[in-house]
Amino acid sequence: MKKQHLISALTIAALVSVSGISIAQQASSVKSLRGTQVDEYVPLERNHRQDEKRFVRNYRQQPPLIPHAVAQYQIDLNANQCLACHDWSNAGDRGAPTLSMTHYLDRDYNQLDSIAGTRWFCNQCHVPQADAPALVGNAFQPSSGN
Ligand code: HEC
Ligand code: HEC
Repeated sequence: MKKQHLISALTIAALVSVSGISIAQQASSVKSLRGTQVDEYVPLERNHRQDEKRFVRNYRQQPPLIPHAVAQYQIDLNANQCLACHDWSNAGDRGAPTLSMTHYLDRDYNQLDSIAGTRWFCNQCHVPQADAPALVGNAFQPSSGN
């Protein structure tokens, strides 16, 4: 190997090892939401279970939280078990709140007789609820009168 080639090979080797060190330093400064190292085991103080009462909405347009278990209710391309209780055609018999009428409007605001495709995947907007402390601080206040 000529002298010049040797020098540039050494320079590259030095650069690679320096950047390796800085990547390692970055990895050790990554912290989880709870402020601990990502690989540190954090035991749960308490397992916050599903809360089965209805929660007040935090702002007027909020999709209401789900006050019951959902693990067994399948939603896929062909089946939606939520509709067995919440569709307008079943809700009375099942004692469940009927879907909001906004759920029967397509994207051009045409009224439909069955649920709009845009509302098919309920858990895209509705989530089960638990009275758990927030993982990160949140000072959200709803606006009043809007
Ligand atoms: C076996 C019937 C049944 C099925 C299936 C069911 N629900 Fe419910 N749901 C209810 C009943 C009954 C209530 C009212 C509970 C109450 O008032 O405490 C309710 C309440 C709700 C509410 C609260 C509405 C409000 O205005 O506060 C939401 C949201 C909801 N369900 C979403 C879902 C979703 C999403 C699924 C599917 C993953 C689903 N439900 C499946 C019976 C059902
Ligand atoms: C794109 C978001 C979105 C999807 C998807 C969606 N919802 Fe909703 N839902 C909302 C919002 C927002 C509200 C409250 C405002 C309103 O009435 O439109 C609501 C209201 C409701 C209510 C309360 C109705 C009332 O009058 O109290 C029920 C029950 C409900 N949804 C069930 C469902 C079920 C079951 C599905 C799936 C079949 C579903 N939603 C899909 C956003 C959504």
